Amino acid sequence: MTITEDIIELEQKYVLQTYKRPDFVLESGEGVWLYDADGREYLDGGSGIAVNALGYQNQATIAALRQAADGLIHVSNLYHTAPQAFLARDLCENSFADRVFFSNSGAEANEGALKFARKFARSQGHSNKTGIVSFTGSFHGRTMGALACTATEKYRKPFEPLVGDVSFAQFNNLDSARQAISEQTCAVIVEPVQGEGGVTPADPEFMTGLRQLCDETGALLIFDEIQCGLGRTGTLWAYENYSITPDIMTLAKPLAGGLPIGAILLTQVVADTLGPGDHGSTFAGGPLVCTVARSVFGQVNDAVFLDQVKKYGAYMAAQLKDKIASSPLITEVRGKGLMWGLASVPPAAEIMVEARKHGLIILVAGPNVVRLLPPLTISQDEIDELVERLSKTLEMVG
Ligand SMILES: Cc1ncc(COP(=O)(O)O)c(C=O)c1O
Repeated sequence: MTITEDIIELEQKYVLQTYKRPDFVLESGEGVWLYDADGREYLDGGSGIAVNALGYQNQATIAALRQAADGLIHVSNLYHTAPQAFLARDLCENSFADRVFFSNSGAEANEGALKFARKFARSQGHSNKTGIVSFTGSFHGRTMGALACTATEKYRKPFEPLVGDVSFAQFNNLDSARQAISEQTCAVIVEPVQGEGGVTPADPEFMTGLRQLCDETGALLIFDEIQCGLGRTGTLWAYENYSITPDIMTLAKPLAGGLPIGAILLTQVVADTLGPGDHGSTFAGGPLVCTVARSVFGQVNDAVFLDQVKKYGAYMAAQLKDKIASSPLITEVRGKGLMWGLASVPPAAEIMVEARKHGLIILVAGPNVVRLLPPLTISQDEIDELVERLSKTLEMVG
């Protein structure tokens, strides 16, 4: 038996089978490249689902991790620690927010955001203002509250009843949003660029319309930037592509370079309604994870770095439109920065499986959209290579 067969057998025997994994075992990585136990290389067009924004073996992140390992790993949120305070300052001073609450994942960040919105409404004396409005095509996580705001039927159905009082409006349809948002709405949750649901950017008029509807009804506007935030679209925050700011924003995925973290950023007005005992977490915001996150944040929140993302994002868009959109299998290329979706005629999963044979890792976003989320550090040559491998993949699928 090879090491690969051995590991796969163990995984299939002992790990709960909620993922359908390909038949290789990933062992190491460097930059945008991943290597398996049999020595095959893969160009990573998925970044561990938008997490490895700085690629593999990022030296500054590793140095921060080593330094953090020499200090405290965990003390709990009962005590002050410097890395948490510094990271909170970094996030607030570089966004709309005044306060941060740390969590351990994206779903957890959204759970907290929903709780904060309910408490905010209640503290204004509105006991019936509990409604949450989400959108078709949305994905906010797998825990009960986050799942209740996630549109995909097949994720929700087996676990119903979910958290109540959530309704769905059509994404990018302001009339539909207007019908759903009322005086009973405490929160509207939206991804500025939908990820899992198909890589669809929100229209500017839709976003400004949502801000206006929230202001009129006293609902809080929550931006889920877990996938599209932190440099992915070419600006530090995806909301910078619009002329508005949210009341709450959730982050996770790339923030700590692969260590588990989430963050809920909020305005002072919302923060004023929350106090000791309202929310908590044993692990979240620990010194080790926050030290690493500060390093990642510092690297991404850099004008030169973000300009590169914009430049290479535009290059990738041009290459995809030139060399991939012409395939009869692809009906639309859409996205922003280094976040791209390719609407496909055949099931996207078929393209993903074929791509692996060409040494390319890609993702899907729903049944008929291929999703590309390469590390933000990808070079022009590597974009050429990605497009070339994708093009060969499509020839084989066709
Ligand atoms: C937009 C968005 N929100 C929330 C989540 C959930 O994050 P996590 O898997 O860390 O719970 C995801 C994960 O894919 C996401 O893309």
